[in-house]
Amino acid sequence: MQIGNINLSSPTILAPLAGITNLPFRLIIKKLGCGLVCSEMISSNGLVYKSLKTQMLLNSTEKESPISFQIFGSDPELMAKAAEIIEELGADIVDINFGCSVRKILKSGAGAALMKTPDLAEKILMSVRKAINVPLTIKIRTGWDTSGKDALTILKIAEECGVDAITMHPRTAKQGFTGSADWSQIAALKKTAKIPVIGNGDITKPEDALEMISQTRCDGVMVGREAMINPWILAQIDSLIKKKGKTSSRHKYAL
Ligand SMILES: Cc1cc2nc3c(=O)[nH]c(=O)nc-3n(C[C@H](O)[C@H](O)[C@H](O)COP(=O)(O)O)c2cc1C
Repeated sequence: MQIGNINLSSPTILAPLAGITNLPFRLIIKKLGCGLVCSEMISSNGLVYKSLKTQMLLNSTEKESPISFQIFGSDPELMAKAAEIIEELGADIVDINFGCSVRKILKSGAGAALMKTPDLAEKILMSVRKAINVPLTIKIRTGWDTSGKDALTILKIAEECGVDAITMHPRTAKQGFTGSADWSQIAALKKTAKIPVIGNGDITKPEDALEMISQTRCDGVMVGREAMINPWILAQIDSLIKKKGKTSSRHKYAL
Protein backbone atom coordinates (compact mmCIF):
# COMPACT_ATOMS: atom_id res chain seq x y z
CA MET A 1 0.00 0.00 0.00
CA GLN A 2 1.22 3.48 -0.89
CA ILE A 3 0.45 6.74 0.97
CA GLY A 4 1.79 9.62 -1.08
CA ASN A 5 5.45 8.75 -1.64
CA ILE A 6 5.57 6.37 1.35
CA ASN A 7 5.50 2.71 0.44
CA LEU A 8 4.19 0.54 3.29
CA SER A 9 5.63 -2.96 3.61
CA SER A 10 2.19 -4.13 4.76
CA PRO A 11 -1.33 -2.63 4.68
CA THR A 12 -1.65 -3.15 8.46
CA ILE A 13 -1.80 -0.03 10.61
CA LEU A 14 -1.74 0.53 14.36
CA ALA A 15 -4.48 3.06 15.28
CA PRO A 16 -3.77 6.23 17.21
CA LEU A 17 -4.76 5.58 20.84
CA ALA A 18 -4.49 8.42 23.37
CA GLY A 19 -2.53 7.35 26.42
CA ILE A 20 -1.48 4.08 24.75
CA THR A 21 0.42 4.47 21.47
CA ASN A 22 3.54 6.01 22.98
CA LEU A 23 7.06 5.16 21.77
CA PRO A 24 7.51 1.88 23.74
CA PHE A 25 4.09 0.56 22.67
CA ARG A 26 4.69 1.49 19.03
CA LEU A 27 8.12 -0.16 19.05
CA ILE A 28 6.65 -3.42 20.37
CA ILE A 29 3.94 -3.47 17.69
CA LYS A 30 6.46 -2.54 15.01
CA LYS A 31 8.85 -5.28 16.09
CA LEU A 32 6.07 -7.89 16.03
CA GLY A 33 5.15 -6.76 12.49
CA CYS A 34 3.04 -3.87 11.24
CA GLY A 35 3.11 -1.58 8.18
CA LEU A 36 2.57 1.77 9.89
CA VAL A 37 2.36 3.00 13.48
CA CYS A 38 0.53 6.15 14.59
CA SER A 39 1.14 8.48 17.50
CA GLU A 40 -1.73 9.41 19.74
CA MET A 41 -3.45 12.71 18.93
CA ILE A 42 -1.31 15.73 19.76
CA SER A 43 -2.69 19.20 20.46
CA SER A 44 -1.74 21.81 17.84
CA ASN A 45 -1.89 24.47 20.59
CA GLY A 46 0.41 22.40 22.79
CA LEU A 47 2.87 21.95 19.92
CA VAL A 48 3.00 25.58 18.92
CA TYR A 49 3.12 26.91 22.50
CA LYS A 50 5.54 24.12 23.56
CA SER A 51 3.58 22.67 26.47
CA LEU A 52 5.65 20.20 28.48
CA LYS A 53 2.90 17.56 28.35
CA THR A 54 2.85 17.79 24.56
CA GLN A 55 6.64 17.63 24.24
CA MET A 56 6.56 14.26 26.00
CA LEU A 57 4.35 12.85 23.23
CA LEU A 58 6.96 13.61 20.59
CA ASN A 59 9.49 10.92 21.52
CA SER A 60 10.34 8.85 18.46
CA THR A 61 13.23 6.87 16.94
CA GLU A 62 14.12 5.85 13.40
CA LYS A 63 13.40 2.23 14.37
CA GLU A 64 9.66 2.86 14.21
CA SER A 65 9.71 4.47 10.76
CA PRO A 66 7.43 4.94 8.91
CA ILE A 67 5.48 6.79 11.55
CA SER A 68 2.37 8.93 11.29
CA PHE A 69 1.94 11.72 13.83
CA GLN A 70 -1.64 12.82 14.44
CA ILE A 71 -2.54 16.39 15.34
CA PHE A 72 -5.83 17.95 16.41
CA GLY A 73 -7.15 21.49 16.55
CA SER A 74 -9.52 23.92 14.87
CA ASP A 75 -7.39 26.95 13.99
CA PRO A 76 -6.06 26.65 10.42
CA GLU A 77 -2.96 28.76 11.11
CA LEU A 78 -2.03 26.94 14.32
CA MET A 79 -2.66 23.56 12.65
CA ALA A 80 -0.29 24.52 9.82
CA LYS A 81 2.42 25.59 12.28
CA ALA A 82 1.93 22.39 14.29
CA ALA A 83 2.20 20.28 11.14
CA GLU A 84 5.44 22.07 10.22
CA ILE A 85 6.88 21.31 13.66
CA ILE A 86 5.90 17.65 13.39
CA GLU A 87 7.43 17.38 9.91
CA GLU A 88 10.69 18.93 11.13
CA LEU A 89 10.79 16.39 13.97
CA GLY A 90 10.79 13.58 11.40
CA ALA A 91 7.16 12.53 10.88
CA ASP A 92 6.83 10.45 7.71
CA ILE A 93 3.11 11.23 7.54
CA VAL A 94 0.97 13.92 9.21
CA ASP A 95 -2.57 12.86 10.11
CA ILE A 96 -5.41 15.15 11.18
CA ASN A 97 -7.99 14.02 13.69
CA PHE A 98 -11.58 14.33 12.40
CA GLY A 99 -12.89 11.61 14.70
CA CYS A 100 -12.38 12.34 18.39
CA SER A 101 -15.76 12.52 20.14
CA VAL A 102 -14.55 13.59 23.60
CA ARG A 103 -16.70 16.53 24.77
CA LYS A 104 -13.79 18.89 25.54
CA ILE A 105 -12.33 18.41 22.05
CA LEU A 106 -15.73 18.81 20.34
CA LYS A 107 -16.39 22.03 22.27
CA SER A 108 -13.22 23.53 20.82
CA GLY A 109 -14.43 22.72 17.28
CA ALA A 110 -11.76 20.05 16.77
CA GLY A 111 -11.90 16.27 16.23
CA ALA A 112 -15.25 14.95 15.05
CA ALA A 113 -16.78 18.47 15.26
CA LEU A 114 -15.03 19.05 11.91
CA MET A 115 -17.41 16.51 10.35
CA LYS A 116 -20.17 19.17 10.62
CA THR A 117 -18.07 22.22 9.66
CA PRO A 118 -16.85 21.50 6.12
CA ASP A 119 -15.83 25.13 5.48
CA LEU A 120 -13.49 25.10 8.47
CA ALA A 121 -12.27 21.62 7.53
CA GLU A 122 -11.34 22.93 4.09
CA LYS A 123 -9.45 25.91 5.54
CA ILE A 124 -7.49 23.61 7.86
CA LEU A 125 -6.64 21.13 5.11
CA MET A 126 -5.61 23.84 2.67
CA SER A 127 -3.37 25.56 5.17
CA VAL A 128 -1.77 22.34 6.46
CA ARG A 129 -1.23 21.01 2.91
CA LYS A 130 0.62 24.23 1.97
CA ALA A 131 2.80 24.02 5.09
CA ILE A 132 4.25 20.49 4.70
CA ASN A 133 5.80 18.25 2.06
CA VAL A 134 5.25 14.85 3.67
CA PRO A 135 2.00 12.94 2.95
CA LEU A 136 -1.12 14.27 4.68
CA THR A 137 -3.93 11.96 5.84
CA ILE A 138 -7.15 12.35 7.80
CA LYS A 139 -9.07 10.02 10.11
CA ILE A 140 -12.82 10.54 10.04
CA ARG A 141 -16.14 9.27 11.43
CA THR A 142 -19.14 8.46 9.21
CA GLY A 143 -20.73 11.79 10.06
CA TRP A 144 -21.86 14.02 12.90
CA ASP A 145 -25.19 12.39 13.82
CA THR A 146 -26.08 10.55 10.61
CA SER A 147 -23.84 8.33 8.52
CA GLY A 148 -22.87 8.94 4.92
CA LYS A 149 -23.34 12.49 3.63
CA ASP A 150 -20.86 14.24 5.95
CA ALA A 151 -18.18 11.63 5.22
CA LEU A 152 -18.54 12.00 1.44
CA THR A 153 -18.44 15.82 1.77
CA ILE A 154 -15.22 15.63 3.78
CA LEU A 155 -13.74 13.10 1.32
CA LYS A 156 -14.36 15.46 -1.61
CA ILE A 157 -12.81 18.41 0.24
CA ALA A 158 -9.85 16.26 1.29
CA GLU A 159 -9.20 15.12 -2.28
CA GLU A 160 -9.41 18.69 -3.58
CA CYS A 161 -6.96 19.84 -0.90
CA GLY A 162 -4.38 17.16 -1.75
CA VAL A 163 -4.90 14.75 1.14
CA ASP A 164 -3.09 11.45 0.39
CA ALA A 165 -5.26 8.88 2.23
CA ILE A 166 -8.34 8.70 4.44
CA THR A 167 -9.15 6.42 7.38
CA MET A 168 -12.72 5.79 8.48
CA HIS A 169 -13.90 4.64 11.90
CA PRO A 170 -17.47 3.90 10.84
CA ARG A 171 -19.53 5.26 13.71
CA THR A 172 -21.04 8.75 13.90
CA ALA A 173 -19.54 11.34 16.26
CA LYS A 174 -22.72 11.17 18.36
CA GLN A 175 -22.34 7.41 18.69
CA GLY A 176 -18.93 7.67 20.33
CA PHE A 177 -18.02 4.01 20.81
CA THR A 178 -21.57 2.67 21.20
CA GLY A 179 -23.21 0.26 18.77
CA SER A 180 -21.09 -1.49 16.20
CA ALA A 181 -18.84 -0.28 13.41
CA ASP A 182 -20.83 -0.07 10.16
CA TRP A 183 -18.40 -1.42 7.57
CA SER A 184 -20.86 -0.68 4.75
CA GLN A 185 -19.91 2.99 5.26
CA ILE A 186 -16.27 2.13 4.51
CA ALA A 187 -17.45 0.37 1.33
CA ALA A 188 -19.43 3.48 0.32
CA LEU A 189 -16.42 5.72 0.93
CA LYS A 190 -14.12 3.41 -1.06
CA LYS A 191 -16.55 3.39 -4.00
CA THR A 192 -16.21 7.18 -4.34
CA ALA A 193 -12.62 7.71 -3.20
CA LYS A 194 -9.73 8.38 -5.57
CA ILE A 195 -7.25 8.21 -2.66
CA PRO A 196 -6.46 5.08 -0.59
CA VAL A 197 -9.05 4.20 2.07
CA ILE A 198 -8.06 2.63 5.38
CA GLY A 199 -10.81 0.70 7.17
CA ASN A 200 -11.04 0.68 10.96
CA GLY A 201 -13.44 -0.49 13.65
CA ASP A 202 -14.24 -3.64 15.61
CA ILE A 203 -11.49 -5.88 14.22
CA THR A 204 -10.93 -8.36 17.04
CA LYS A 205 -9.35 -11.26 15.17
CA PRO A 206 -7.21 -11.57 12.02
CA GLU A 207 -10.12 -13.07 10.04
CA ASP A 208 -12.17 -9.91 10.73
CA ALA A 209 -9.60 -7.87 8.80
CA LEU A 210 -9.90 -10.15 5.77
CA GLU A 211 -13.67 -9.92 6.02
CA MET A 212 -13.46 -6.11 6.15
CA ILE A 213 -11.24 -6.06 3.06
CA SER A 214 -13.57 -8.41 1.25
CA GLN A 215 -16.71 -6.45 2.18
CA THR A 216 -15.33 -2.95 1.59
CA ARG A 217 -12.35 -3.33 -0.80
CA CYS A 218 -10.44 -1.00 1.55
CA ASP A 219 -6.72 -0.54 0.81
CA GLY A 220 -5.49 -0.92 4.37
CA VAL A 221 -6.75 -2.00 7.78
CA MET A 222 -6.27 -0.23 11.10
CA VAL A 223 -6.59 -1.88 14.51
CA GLY A 224 -6.92 -0.05 17.83
CA ARG A 225 -8.32 -1.64 20.97
CA GLU A 226 -7.51 -5.23 20.07
CA ALA A 227 -3.80 -4.36 19.78
CA MET A 228 -3.84 -3.60 23.52
CA ILE A 229 -5.09 -7.14 24.21
CA ASN A 230 -3.27 -9.00 21.44
CA PRO A 231 -0.18 -7.05 20.27
CA TRP A 232 0.44 -9.73 17.61
CA ILE A 233 -2.83 -9.00 15.79
CA LEU A 234 -1.36 -6.76 13.07
CA ALA A 235 1.38 -9.30 12.30
CA GLN A 236 -1.25 -12.07 12.26
CA ILE A 237 -3.39 -10.06 9.83
CA ASP A 238 -0.36 -9.47 7.59
CA SER A 239 0.49 -13.16 7.43
CA LEU A 240 -3.14 -14.08 6.74
CA ILE A 241 -3.33 -11.54 3.90
CA LYS A 242 -0.09 -12.92 2.40
CA LYS A 243 -1.28 -16.52 2.77
CA LYS A 244 -4.63 -15.73 1.13
CA GLY A 245 -2.89 -13.78 -1.62
CA LYS A 246 -0.77 -16.85 -2.44
CA THR A 247 -3.51 -19.45 -2.27
CA SER A 248 -6.43 -17.60 -3.82
CA SER A 249 -6.15 -16.74 -7.49
CA ARG A 250 -9.93 -16.44 -7.69
CA HIS A 251 -10.33 -13.80 -4.99
CA LYS A 252 -7.77 -11.02 -5.24
CA TYR A 253 -7.65 -8.57 -2.33
CA ALA A 254 -7.26 -4.95 -3.38
CA LEU A 255 -4.11 -4.36 -1.33
C1 LIG B 1 -8.22 4.54 24.51
C2 LIG B 1 -8.49 5.06 23.13
C3 LIG B 1 -7.80 6.17 22.68
C4 LIG B 1 -8.03 6.65 21.38
N1 LIG B 1 -7.30 7.73 20.94
C5 LIG B 1 -7.44 8.15 19.66
C6 LIG B 1 -6.62 9.20 19.14
O1 LIG B 1 -5.75 9.75 19.81
N2 LIG B 1 -6.83 9.57 17.85
C7 LIG B 1 -7.78 8.96 17.04
O2 LIG B 1 -7.92 9.34 15.87
N3 LIG B 1 -8.54 7.96 17.51
C8 LIG B 1 -8.37 7.54 18.77
N4 LIG B 1 -9.12 6.49 19.22
C9 LIG B 1 -9.99 5.76 18.27
C10 LIG B 1 -9.21 4.59 17.63
O3 LIG B 1 -8.10 5.04 16.90
C11 LIG B 1 -10.12 3.75 16.71
O4 LIG B 1 -10.61 4.56 15.69
C12 LIG B 1 -11.30 3.13 17.45
O5 LIG B 1 -10.90 2.58 18.69
C13 LIG B 1 -11.98 2.04 16.60
O6 LIG B 1 -11.06 1.03 16.25
P1 LIG B 1 -10.95 -0.36 17.07
O7 LIG B 1 -12.33 -0.97 17.07
O8 LIG B 1 -9.95 -1.16 16.31
O9 LIG B 1 -10.51 -0.02 18.46
C14 LIG B 1 -8.95 6.02 20.53
C15 LIG B 1 -9.65 4.91 21.00
C16 LIG B 1 -9.43 4.42 22.27
C17 LIG B 1 -10.19 3.21 22.75
